[in-house]
Amino acid sequence: MPWVLSGVDLGPNVLELGPGPGLTTDLLRPTVRCLTAIEVDPKLADSLGSRLRGSNVQVVAGDATAMPFPDAHFSGGVSFTMLHHVPSPELQDKLLRELWRVLKPGGVFVGSDSLQSLFMRLIHIGDTLVPMNPDTVGARLEAAGFDVLEVEKNSHAFRFQARKPSARL
Ligand SMILES: C[S@@+](CC[C@H](N)C(=O)[O-])C[C@H]1O[C@@H](n2cnc3c(N)ncnc32)[C@H](O)[C@@H]1O
Repeated sequence: MPWVLSGVDLGPNVLELGPGPGLTTDLLRPTVRCLTAIEVDPKLADSLGSRLRGSNVQVVAGDATAMPFPDAHFSGGVSFTMLHHVPSPELQDKLLRELWRVLKPGGVFVGSDSLQSLFMRLIHIGDTLVPMNPDTVGARLEAAGFDVLEVEKNSHAFRFQARKPSARL
């Protein structure tokens, strides 16, 4: 997470895509005023929502490719190790467009995901695995409307930082 979040100001009202059991949520929530986490697995959403009741986190059971949030609602968005769980490139691109829609102009979207590997294939036997190619992530973010600030990869993962352009006066 420090690799993804370094130098980033997410603002006061942040959206996390795919929190799972909430390990990333726990690290993120002390750093922001309000955090909304959208999780497609209803059991995970329910248990995380129960665990974080009364905190600054609201957990929503829902699909990040079709989100129940108004346009331009969040100041920042994050996605940690979840994009490969979205089952097709088309749905991944829909998710990027949805995130663009719910971000305020000027809002940043940052994230990371694992690279394709034998290890990833083994641990996803029987599970969804559609890795994004880090060499095309920038173009896909731009196609969704973002300005790409950075895409970087290391031996096992990539990170990106993008911004929804500010509204023109
Ligand atoms: C590998 S887990 C990562 C959890 C957490 N972000 C982390 O890094 O520890 C991916 C999570 O994304 C969720 N997910 C997959 N597709 C989703 C979608 N379309 N909308 C919301 N959540 C989704 C999965 O249910 C799972 O809980």
